Amino acid sequence: MSSDLTTRASELRDELNYHIYRYNVLGSPVITDGEYDKMYHELKALEAEHPELITPDSPTQRAGSDLSEDFPKVKHPAPILSLANAFSEDDLKAWEERNLKLLPAGTQLGYTLEPKLDGLTIVITYENGYLVQAATRGNGELGDDVTANVRTIRNVPLKIPVDKNGPKAPERLVVRGEVMFHKKDFAALNKKQEAEGLPLYVNARNTASGTLKQKDSRITASRPLIAYLYSVVAISGTKWDTQWDILNNLRDLGFSTAPHAEFYPTLSDIIQQLPTWESRRRTLDFEIDGVVLKINDLKIQAELGYSGKDPRGAIAYKFPAEEMTTKLLGVTANIGRTGRVTPTAQLEPVFIGGVTVVNASLHNYDQIAKLDIRLGDTVIIKRSGEVIPYVIGPVIGARDGSETAILPPTNCPSCNTPIVQPEGFVDFICPNPLCPERVFRSIEFFVSRGAMDIESMGPQTVKILIDRKLIQDEADIFTLKPESFEGIEGFGEKKIDNLMKSIEAAKTRPLAQLVCSLGIDGVGSVVAGLLADKFGSIDAIQSATVEAIDDIEGIGPILAQGIAEWFADERHRNLLDKFRAVGINPQNKAKVAAGDGLTGSTFVLTGTLPTLSREQAEALIESHGGKVSGSVSKKTSYVLMGDTPGSKADKARTLGVPIISEEQLLEMISGNPTQSNNPTDDNPQNPA
Ligand code: IVH
Repeated sequence: MSSDLTTRASELRDELNYHIYRYNVLGSPVITDGEYDKMYHELKALEAEHPELITPDSPTQRAGSDLSEDFPKVKHPAPILSLANAFSEDDLKAWEERNLKLLPAGTQLGYTLEPKLDGLTIVITYENGYLVQAATRGNGELGDDVTANVRTIRNVPLKIPVDKNGPKAPERLVVRGEVMFHKKDFAALNKKQEAEGLPLYVNARNTASGTLKQKDSRITASRPLIAYLYSVVAISGTKWDTQWDILNNLRDLGFSTAPHAEFYPTLSDIIQQLPTWESRRRTLDFEIDGVVLKINDLKIQAELGYSGKDPRGAIAYKFPAEEMTTKLLGVTANIGRTGRVTPTAQLEPVFIGGVTVVNASLHNYDQIAKLDIRLGDTVIIKRSGEVIPYVIGPVIGARDGSETAILPPTNCPSCNTPIVQPEGFVDFICPNPLCPERVFRSIEFFVSRGAMDIESMGPQTVKILIDRKLIQDEADIFTLKPESFEGIEGFGEKKIDNLMKSIEAAKTRPLAQLVCSLGIDGVGSVVAGLLADKFGSIDAIQSATVEAIDDIEGIGPILAQGIAEWFADERHRNLLDKFRAVGINPQNKAKVAAGDGLTGSTFVLTGTLPTLSREQAEALIESHGGKVSGSVSKKTSYVLMGDTPGSKADKARTLGVPIISEEQLLEMISGNPTQSNNPTDDNPQNPA
C-alpha cells in the first residue's frame, strides 16, 4: 500500500481528533460541521478500502461525546448511535446494494424519508405514561441527565397520551429525537440579545445545545426550544413493527414528529424526492442539513445490524454544505445609490455548495461591531440558494491575536466627502448626492430589469456613458442618439441599434414603473403602485402633501415624509422636468375604473398617443369591454389616432371609420363624450 495513503490517513486522524477536542473539550470549534464531515468521510472511505489503515485512535472508532461535569450521568438502555453519511445518489445506491447482498434474495426494501434535523439528540424515558427522565446523547452509552431542562420544552409531553382518548401508552417507552430552535425563535432570541446590548448568537444548534445544558432550568425555560421525536430506543408492553408505525404512534401519543416525513416503496422514489427536499429546506421553520433514509421494516433493520458503529438500516443523505469557514482578508466599503455605505468581505476563496466564494456580505458596520468580526478572523460563511453569501460570524477560537478592528471609512472612497451616520440610523452614509459612485448606482438601478428595464444597457454601458459625459443623470439616457456612440470601442451598428430600440421602448413605461425606478428609499414596486394609483401622474405626486401620501393604506408616516422630501428636492424636481422635456410623463389612466362602456366596439390604434403607451391603451380598451384589432375594415368602430399616424388613418378615412383621439377615448370611457371636437360628428353611420 502506498505510503501516501498512510500519511493521508494519519493527517486526517490528527486533524479530526483536534477538531473533536475543540468541539467537545474547549467548546470552541474552528471549522463547520460540513468541513468536519468531509474529512471524516474521506477517512472513512480510506479505511473501508484499506482496513489495515485503521488505528485505535481513529475517530471512526468511537462516536463523539458531549458529556459535561455539570450533570449526573444516565445509562442509555441501548447505544445511542449515529448514522453513516451519503453525499450523492451513487452513495445511496451503493448503500442499498450492500444491504441487499446481506439479505435473502428478492427482499423488497421500502423506506421512510425524514428530514435530518440540525439540532442535538435527546433521549426521553416515559414510564406508565409519565416523563421520568431525559438525557443527552453523551458518549452514546452514558448521557447527561437534563430532565429538569427537557421538562421546560413546550412540545415535550409530560404525560402520554396527551389526548386521553389517544392510544394507551406503552409501560415503558424510551424515545429519541432532536432538540433545536425554530428559525424565527432563534432570530427573536438574537433580537432580544441585541436589545439588551449582548453579543449575538452565531449558530442555532450550538445555542440549542448550550440552552439544554444550562444548570439553571429557568434559563432553559426562558428560551423556546422545541423537540421532534423520530425513533424508539426501548419499548415494553407493546411492539411496533415499522419505522412508519413508530412515527404514527408517536404522533398519536402526542409527540411532535418532523413534518413531511413520508414512506416510499423504493429507493428510486426517494431519489426523485431529493431535489424537492433541497428546495424545501429554505421554507421550513427549522434547520435541516439533509434527509434520513430508514429501512421501514424494523426486523430487516435488526437483521442488518451494524457496520462499525453505524446501523446499516439507516443512512443520512447530507445536502451540500452551505456553511464553510475561511479567512477574512479585507473589507471594501461600497457606496449605494442612496449613499449607504455597505461593507463587503474579501475572502480567501472557499468552495460552498458548488461555487467558489470570494466576496460575502457583512450587512452593515453595526452588525460587524455586534458580532465582533475582525480583519484576519476565520469567519463562517453561509451560502444558501440564490441569496448572496454572507458572513455569519467569527470563529473566536481561531484567533491568534493579530486580528484588527473593522471601522467604517471616515471619507467616501469615491468622492472623499466625510461619511456621516444620521441620528438613529444603523447605516453610514456618503451625503454627497453628486458622488460619482452614487450617480452610477442610481443610473445602473434605473435601467435594470425590474426598474425601467432598458435591455442591452448593462452596468458596463452605463459606466462608459458616464465616463464620456454622454449622460449625467437618468433623463439624459433619453437624449442619446445613434451618433452619440460614434467611435466608442465595442459599439457596433447592431449594438447601437439594439440600445436605441430599448431606450425607445422604455419611454412608454407606466407611471408606477417610472416611480419605482427613481430609486427613492423605501419605494419599491408595491409602494410605487400605490402612489401611481392614488395620484395618477408625476405632477400630482410632486404636489401631494405628506398627509395625502400618509393617507394611503400601506404607507406609514416616516415613508410618506421621505417620499415628500424626495419630490421636494430641487435636484429631483429638475430631473423630473428633464423627463418631461424628453416626453416622459406617464399618466395612470388605468385609474379610471374598469367598466363595459366599450362593449361591442372594435378599435384600431395608429400613431403615438400623447400619454398612453400602446399597451396601456389596449389594456384600457379591453378593460372596458372593447376589442383591439390590427387592421382597419368596415367592421372597425374607431381608429384611435396619435401623432405621426400610419396608413391606417388613411384607410379609416376612405372607409368612413371614425377617427378619435386619446382624449376622446378617455371621455368615452368616463361616459362624457365631448361632441364638439368629435371628428366623427359628420358621420351619421357612427355608433358613437
Ligand atoms: S435516526 C440509529 N432520524 O442525525 C439512528 N437521526 O448524523 C438514529 N438526526 O445522531 C438516528 N434527524 O441526532 C435520525 N430524522 C432523524 C434525524 C436524526 C436528525 C440526527 C441524530 C443523529 C445524527 C446522525
